[in-house]
Amino acid sequence: MSYTKSLLLALGISAVQAVPKPRGDEGIRWGKCDIDTQGLPVECAKLTVPLDYSDDSCEDTLDLALIRYPAQNGPSQGTIMLNFGGPGQDGLNSMISYAPIQGPVTGGQFDLVSWDPRGTGQTLRFACFEPEEIGVTLAHELPDESPEVRQRVWDEAGYIAGNCSERLSETGDLVGTAFTVRDMFQIVDALGEDGMLRYWGISGGTTLGATAAAMFPDRIDKVILDGVMNAHEYYHSVGETNIVLTADDTFLGFINACFDNPKKCPLATITDSPDAALKVIVDTFETLKTEPLLVPVEDADPVAITYSIANSFTLSTLYRPNSYQLLASILTAVVKRDTVALVEAFSGDGSPSAVPQQGQAVMGIRCGDKIPRVDDLSDLDEVDEDFRETSKYFPGFGVGYYVYACAQWGFEAKERYEGDFQVRTSSPLLFIGNTYDPVTPLASARNMSAGFEGSVVLQQDGFGHTSIAQTSNCTNEAIAKYFADGTLPEEGTVCAPNHPLFANDEEI
Ligand SMILES: *[C@@H]1O[C@H](CO)[C@@H](O)[C@H](O)[C@H]1NC(C)=O
Ligand SMILES: *[C@@H]1O[C@H](CO)[C@@H](O)[C@H](O)[C@H]1NC(C)=O
Ligand SMILES: *[C@@H]1O[C@H](CO)[C@@H](O)[C@H](O)[C@H]1NC(C)=O
Repeated sequence: MSYTKSLLLALGISAVQAVPKPRGDEGIRWGKCDIDTQGLPVECAKLTVPLDYSDDSCEDTLDLALIRYPAQNGPSQGTIMLNFGGPGQDGLNSMISYAPIQGPVTGGQFDLVSWDPRGTGQTLRFACFEPEEIGVTLAHELPDESPEVRQRVWDEAGYIAGNCSERLSETGDLVGTAFTVRDMFQIVDALGEDGMLRYWGISGGTTLGATAAAMFPDRIDKVILDGVMNAHEYYHSVGETNIVLTADDTFLGFINACFDNPKKCPLATITDSPDAALKVIVDTFETLKTEPLLVPVEDADPVAITYSIANSFTLSTLYRPNSYQLLASILTAVVKRDTVALVEAFSGDGSPSAVPQQGQAVMGIRCGDKIPRVDDLSDLDEVDEDFRETSKYFPGFGVGYYVYACAQWGFEAKERYEGDFQVRTSSPLLFIGNTYDPVTPLASARNMSAGFEGSVVLQQDGFGHTSIAQTSNCTNEAIAKYFADGTLPEEGTVCAPNHPLFANDEEI
């Protein structure tokens, strides 16, 4: 078998020329799922779609892996499509984690449907490296740690970009948001409802939703974009500084809340003010650049807690208010260089593990979607400076993936939305942004809403990434109402979470 053919097969593409099945009238045959469904009443299916929407003569097809969480509260009033972000997050496993949270919020009267977007999970999985082949730099090092690290991140990003374009030269450009939008509408058609889109996208799923609404404005029924990315930057900027626009404020808010609840927050026991706590954490992180904290591990080499690891861990834990007490314990242990307490804190982490993001899928989708490229590391000097100006404490967060790999990426998605997101949709969109979301700032919700006529921004006045990071009855009622009859909250609506930070009975 030829290399190309075996590669195509490995990617799940039927290399056999298949005539696309008629769509829209045959429905979807739901059945058992072949993933661990953890007892949820979900069903799965395959849907055959065109492999290459840009080439009418291409009859190759692709089988999308679908999952449905049926309405749990009376007969279904229709389907809401979900996407969980990244982009790069799979749909099937994420549905298992999120349906029990998102289902009740929608009122339980809609079927929730998701799918593995191209590049993820079981659909054209974007994998150019075996897991053991890929280096650790991009995942674990931040360019702002030191000039040496910055060079290393650039080099590794370059060889990943180079090898991916070589190894996936046949299929890499079939992955991307515009084709994923078309896949989504194939699913909407196959559902045999009214052909209109009902959608709730969180995080990176907001770029998919905004792109869908911009490409098919007449097919929009109800679309919620929650934890909004600046899609202009996503497509057009080498760096996406909006990602860390409120990272610092979220961090400072976390420290202040800690001092409001000193009994639950050990950071408040080692310093006497939020300012002093901030300073000691920042100084400690700085020290880690030259003196990593070595944590002994039984029967293995010690684990080095570097600046990059401590910094990334902090920001990514700020996604989840339920873990703020844990974060406070870990930061306290790091500040005290107390490895025993550090190991203890980690072993007590009972928070549900996040669905692992597929690093290669993230790059495959993001980088193919992104338009600009650069030639040299020095071309990123200004970009890195912009990050430092935007965030004092987290200027390197995710930059290896978002910036360094994409800047050197070898191919482009076959189709990209290149418009300006100034759109009049058949029904108005609902945007949701949290006051203190460390990676998708409220400002991005406002920015995107400005382009979608009649859309409204609901502000959830709390912490964490997307509205589901903290439970808010007020937000949940607004979401249920919008899906029920299209009623938008009034412009300027601000919803408080049910519980303040560091409250023990916080539900997710
Ligand atoms: C692929 O990766 C190897 C290291 O694993 C590197 O030596 C080579 O230059 C890379 N190829 C390209 C085209 O970047
Ligand atoms: C939205 O953000 C983009 C990218 O940062 C910017 O160019 C544009 O002016 C912003 N639009 C509004 C309405 O703020
Ligand atoms: C939120 O709603 C639940 C269920 O209706 C209710 O039991 C709870 O008291 C509400 N919490 C707040 C803070 O309003």
